[in-house]
Amino acid sequence: MQIGIIGAGKMGGTLGKLWAAKGHAVMFGSRDPAKAKAQAAEIPGASGGSISEAAAFGQVVLLGVPWRAAIETVTHIGAALNGKTLIDMTNPTGDGMTLAIGHTTSQAEEIATAAAGAKVVKAFNGIHFSLLEKPVFSGFKADVYYCGDDAEAKALVAQLIVDTGFEPVEAGPLRNARLLEPLANLWMQLAFLNGHGTDVAFKLLPR
Ligand SMILES: NC(=O)c1ccc[n+]([C@@H]2O[C@H](COP(=O)([O-])OP(=O)(O)OC[C@H]3O[C@@H](n4cnc5c(N)ncnc54)[C@H](OP(=O)(O)O)[C@@H]3O)[C@@H](O)[C@H]2O)c1
Repeated sequence: MQIGIIGAGKMGGTLGKLWAAKGHAVMFGSRDPAKAKAQAAEIPGASGGSISEAAAFGQVVLLGVPWRAAIETVTHIGAALNGKTLIDMTNPTGDGMTLAIGHTTSQAEEIATAAAGAKVVKAFNGIHFSLLEKPVFSGFKADVYYCGDDAEAKALVAQLIVDTGFEPVEAGPLRNARLLEPLANLWMQLAFLNGHGTDVAFKLLPR
């Protein structure tokens, strides 16, 4: 697949590296295209450029910017997202590790409204960046829950989850981001406030 990565930081940079290693063509997009080009130069199969260039490049576009910058970023990209699968992994975390958006909407739905032509899929928001390169826990692949309203887009994202070594778990329509975003907030509270640390992940246990 051709994958554009908007915001190639801790999450986007690592996912881009992992997908490039699986043979995908990855383009990093940055507010500073020279920085994205330098980042890509270290990774076979990757290229770099502006945010708009990476969005135009991707069949799938990963949104990896801070959550407060997400709406502005997709609005800036505009029509280049039309028809594309847009992976939203942003977590709307407010002061004191509170959930800043929820109950009657979700960050993913707000992004879908702002990027009206895109097929938004929520995914990876519950995985800490430090776990991306070690998805297996005691023989179990950690789960990546994903939700969205377009079946083809969700199939692409499920494949990209498999390609990172995690277990894709289909979690229904995009409105279920109202559940996945608080779940990530729970993970943060368990990890950072309740003593579990970051080397933990969620798993549905089969019997
Ligand atoms: N960190 C985690 O473990 C984790 C886990 C799950 C989900 N998430 C979510 O994933 C997203 C990225 O997290 P991260 O930890 O990878 O963040 P990060 O390391 O800070 O990277 C974010 C990237 O976004 C770009 N950016 C920063 N401010 C921006 C702005 N105002 N407008 C547009 N682009 C901007 C920057 O790239 P340029 O400077 O090159 O433009 C930066 O590299 C967040 O929404 C977060 O909630 C994070």
